[in-house]
This record gives sequence, C-alpha cells and structure tokens, in this order.
Amino acid sequence: MNMTKMNPIRSAVRAVRVFAGSTAHLALVAGVSCALLAAPVSAQNVQRGAELSKPCAACHGPDGNSIAPNFPRLAGQHEDYLVYSLRSYRNGARKNAIMSGQIGNLTEQDFRDLSAFYARQKGPLSVIRQ
Ligand code: HEC
Repeated sequence: MNMTKMNPIRSAVRAVRVFAGSTAHLALVAGVSCALLAAPVSAQNVQRGAELSKPCAACHGPDGNSIAPNFPRLAGQHEDYLVYSLRSYRNGARKNAIMSGQIGNLTEQDFRDLSAFYARQKGPLSVIRQ
C-alpha cells in the first residue's frame, strides 16, 4: 500500500466534512475526534488490546505479524491509521466481507485498545520520511 497517497487523517477529515454538512457541526466533530486521538494511551489500554486481539490472531498473527500476505500486517502500523481502518469497516467506507464480520460488537474503545496494542508490536513496517 502506498502510504504517501493515502493520508488517513485527511480522508477522515473529508469523511467528517461529508458527514457533518455544516461548518459549525464540522468544528464540533473535528474537535471531538482530535480529543479522542490525543487521549493518552496507558499500559492498561495495550493490555486490553492484547486480550481483544486473540480472535484476530488467526489471520493477523498473535502480534500483528500476519501469517500470509493476503492478511495485512498490523504490527508497528500507525495507531491512528488502525483506528481509522476499523472505523471505516464499521461505517461502510471500507468494504470487506471478512473484516466487516470480524468487528462484530467491538466498541470505539475496543478499536482504540486494539490499535494501541498492534501499533506497539515490532514488525518490518516503516514510514519513508520526506
Ligand atoms: C479471517 C481472517 C481475519 C481475521 C480473523 C481478522 N482479520 Fe483483519 N483483515 C483481514 C483481511 C483479509 C484484511 C484486508 C481487508 C481489506 O482489503 O480491506 C484485514 C484488514 C484489517 C485491517 C486494515 C489493515 C490495513 O493495513 O489497512 C485492520 C486494522 C484489521 N484487519 C484488524 C483486525 C482486527 C482488530 C481483528 C480482530 C478483531 C481482525 N482484523 C481479524 C482478515 C482478518
């Protein structure tokens, strides 16, 4: 995947804009999303994410280093990108039959804890700084 072409924050803001429909609403929604992203992550969140990740291990590996190339590697991925991806499966912006089935009853907090866990696992993903 080419990360230079796909900026999750920018796409998220675009999605929020479409969703919000009014400038005042946009400011409110954007403010709330920033607050959520900025919330400090504790060891407890990571631990909870590790627990929640057990069913995901079948495809993404126990630490997010996926077992086959058709399952994206999650270890060491950007935390906000992981949260964004999970939300996208939930709201239908990203459609995938396997993943839509996987997120089931997971909550927004579950998304954040899972992402906190995977983002902190070691893997070969890297970002090319420009
Ligand atoms: C049965 C196999 C399977 C299981 C179990 C599974 N996934 Fe996935 N996951 C996939 C596949 C396939 C994709 C790629 C889908 C696509 O193209 O959008 C994916 C994509 C993702 C992505 C997007 C990654 C990226 O780089 O864009 C995230 C995040 C993710 N999964 C998290 C999870 C979490 C969290 C769980 C457990 C709650 C889970 N997955 C369980 C198969 C699985």
